[in-house]
Amino acid sequence: MSATTGSFSIGDTTVTMPVKTGSIGPSVVDIGKLYASTGMFTYDPGFTSTASCESSITYIDGDEGVLLYRGYPIDQIAEQGDFLETAYLLLYGELPSPTQKKDFDYRITRHTMVHEQMARFFQGLRRDSHPMAVLCASVGALSAFYHDSTDISDPKQRMVASFRLIGKMPTLAAMAYKYSLGQPFIYPKNDLDYSSNFLRMCYAVPCEDYKISSVFARALDRIFILHADHEQNASTSTVRLAGSSGANPFACIAAGVACLWGPAHGGANEAALKMLMEIGTVENIPKFIARAKDKNDPFRLMGFGHRVYKNYDPRAKIMQRTCYEVLNELGIKDSPLLEVAMALEKIALSDEYFIEKKLYPNIDFYSGITLKAMGFPVSMFTVLFAVARTAGWIAQWKEMIEDPSQKIGRPRQLYVGAPKRDYVPISARA
Ligand code: CMC
Repeated sequence: MSATTGSFSIGDTTVTMPVKTGSIGPSVVDIGKLYASTGMFTYDPGFTSTASCESSITYIDGDEGVLLYRGYPIDQIAEQGDFLETAYLLLYGELPSPTQKKDFDYRITRHTMVHEQMARFFQGLRRDSHPMAVLCASVGALSAFYHDSTDISDPKQRMVASFRLIGKMPTLAAMAYKYSLGQPFIYPKNDLDYSSNFLRMCYAVPCEDYKISSVFARALDRIFILHADHEQNASTSTVRLAGSSGANPFACIAAGVACLWGPAHGGANEAALKMLMEIGTVENIPKFIARAKDKNDPFRLMGFGHRVYKNYDPRAKIMQRTCYEVLNELGIKDSPLLEVAMALEKIALSDEYFIEKKLYPNIDFYSGITLKAMGFPVSMFTVLFAVARTAGWIAQWKEMIEDPSQKIGRPRQLYVGAPKRDYVPISARA
């Protein structure tokens, strides 16, 4: 990273600040000393122009529709790699050698089982809870079960916590699903790969095993790869902020799960599928497009638009292909949902409003259809996203903890409340 300086004026004051340049992408003005030199803060709600950290994990060029994990294009990883290799890459910065890959797979697999008492923990939750509520609670509860990996100053404990989180997340996610169905939990099976194991834990029952489709396992693995990291998005920033106070990694990832739940973030695939079902037929599309464009209607086309991508989301293309593969495996030739999705995409992409605002389909547009076809209920979609994003959250958390310049995250504010005034006793109030 190289640094120069840049100057700008505020009133009569000229301020000179360092300008830092990364390996690719826009440079940043380092305003760390702005308050000291001007008595002013910057104001940027939603962080639209603010870089919160240095990171060498993921790079996005939103205008060009580029996504790189540690420099590798997402389409190459999704086509040629697998999810655990992706997790290794995100965590350690390089692709693993065959020996490193074997060792990593072995370690993660040996951390898939959860403490037996966790099963009783689940019973304290209502059966009809949303699986994301169950996941938030159970991930947070891990810190009560694994005290030997909560000391963040110990690199070995950090590593064990990372393996535990990546390994146990699918188990907890499958338990959340089984709990909602009232079916017994299925233990992980160590001779299966990560995605096949997850499918089995979701769909097998003790009286009947589940025949794992290699097309489904590959599709799920690809979904996990595509969702594994996305630089400083809301949930990742939440994990970093929680971690900046020194909170343990299980607590930080639980915070990330909570943030991911929102419909503007991880909940969008659930919202996108519900919207497609609500639209129902191609004839209804214009009505919904009109609503999306109406300033007085809060309705938005879910699965469209992105804070960073002002071009086609590169993950959406791979997701669309994966969607076809799954439907083909199931012998579904005419999916009404897919028909609506394709027509909606076409109409929106040629509509002036969407063109002008650079609103393109994002990954969630096709992931919902794919997951539904694979048998997952809508309420599980964000849970699957959380399983995948755990790899990125952990890599980002680790990078932050290992950064010597790391300090507690503490944004400032523009105060617009009442100025100082004297307290009035209740007896003197009208
Ligand atoms: N449908 C209709 N209009 C939209 C949409 C949409 N999906 N998205 C943005 N707009 C309009 C918005 O009304 C605004 O118009 P105006 O300038 O006239 O006020 C303009 O486009 C800019 O919107 P914004 O909310 O300021 O943009 P943002 O960068 O803050 O929002 C977003 C990004 C993803 C929250 C938003 O596009 C959205 O709500 N999309 C639908 C939800 C969705 O699909 N989310 C998944 C994101 S991808 C998953 C992930 O990476 O987490």
